[in-house]
Amino acid sequence: MADDNQIANRIVNTHQFEAWNGYEGRHWAEHQSRYDALNDPANAPLLDAARLRDTDSVLDIGCGNGRLTRLAARTAHRAVGVDLSTPMLERARRTAAEEQLTNVTHIQADAQVHPFEPASFDVALSRFGIMFFADPVAAFTNIGRALRPSGRLAFVCPQSLDRMDQSTIFKAVDEHVPLPDFSERTETGPAAFADPERTTRVLTGAGFEQVTITPLKVSQRWGPDATDAADFLFGWGPMRHWLRDATPESVDRARQAAADAFRPYATDDGVRLTARYWLATATWPDPPPTERA
Ligand SMILES: C[S@@+](CC[C@H](N)C(=O)[O-])C[C@H]1O[C@@H](n2cnc3c(N)ncnc32)[C@H](O)[C@@H]1O
Repeated sequence: MADDNQIANRIVNTHQFEAWNGYEGRHWAEHQSRYDALNDPANAPLLDAARLRDTDSVLDIGCGNGRLTRLAARTAHRAVGVDLSTPMLERARRTAAEEQLTNVTHIQADAQVHPFEPASFDVALSRFGIMFFADPVAAFTNIGRALRPSGRLAFVCPQSLDRMDQSTIFKAVDEHVPLPDFSERTETGPAAFADPERTTRVLTGAGFEQVTITPLKVSQRWGPDATDAADFLFGWGPMRHWLRDATPESVDRARQAAADAFRPYATDDGVRLTARYWLATATWPDPPPTERA
């Protein structure tokens, strides 16, 4: 594997490269099963929408610790995970080896610009890995070129925070340390594709056709109890970033407030919050855009 300096030379999303190779990526790698417990409810609808066949070559964009790549590989001919993060890719490679999957590979690269072999994949998938591109039209154009004519794209991304129980927790934290205004539109980050009209514009601008966007409502397991869920939330990269200038006392008060806010969501099966996602699908045209031009 190339070292970080060689890889950094081929990255355009440098801020994301730093974040996912810093404490944010390390937290995801160290808490692999926690993040999968949160995000696994998206797997079945996403894989159903991708309609995988045993002959398919699959690209998993922003594969992280690689859960979706490995699930895809159990049906498809081969699955390739692409990601920026060294610690998360280490996890992904190790887990694929532990699961004795021989048709999984991983690439450390920026999916926005990586020179994938043209028309080499049947399906591009992503579970929350496509919201961080500085130039999403360029990124999806690059991903489209990696697809065969009539190739499928399917991904899940979050709806806006105010539609989720998580907003209650953030409001409680915000009483003690100011958090960003989540109602403001952001071009990159978790809510980048919260607006389906923007998603459609980006995908059609990149050359995709037959865009569909459907809502998903899922129950996310945040942890065994409210205190544990709050501790986990306070280790999450964006939260650490927002709290970096706060005093230790106010962070303690905010963490306590978060635990109190999680408590009403406690069930016999741990703390469960309702989350809402968009499931997007699209098709790369046949003939592809460059050949039609
Ligand atoms: C929210 S995490 C999701 C990880 C994984 N798909 C999952 O569901 O567990 C986002 C992932 O996207 C990756 N990522 C962000 N920008 C990327 C880019 N330009 N190219 C490749 N990966 C990227 C990050 O490194 C991170 O692993």
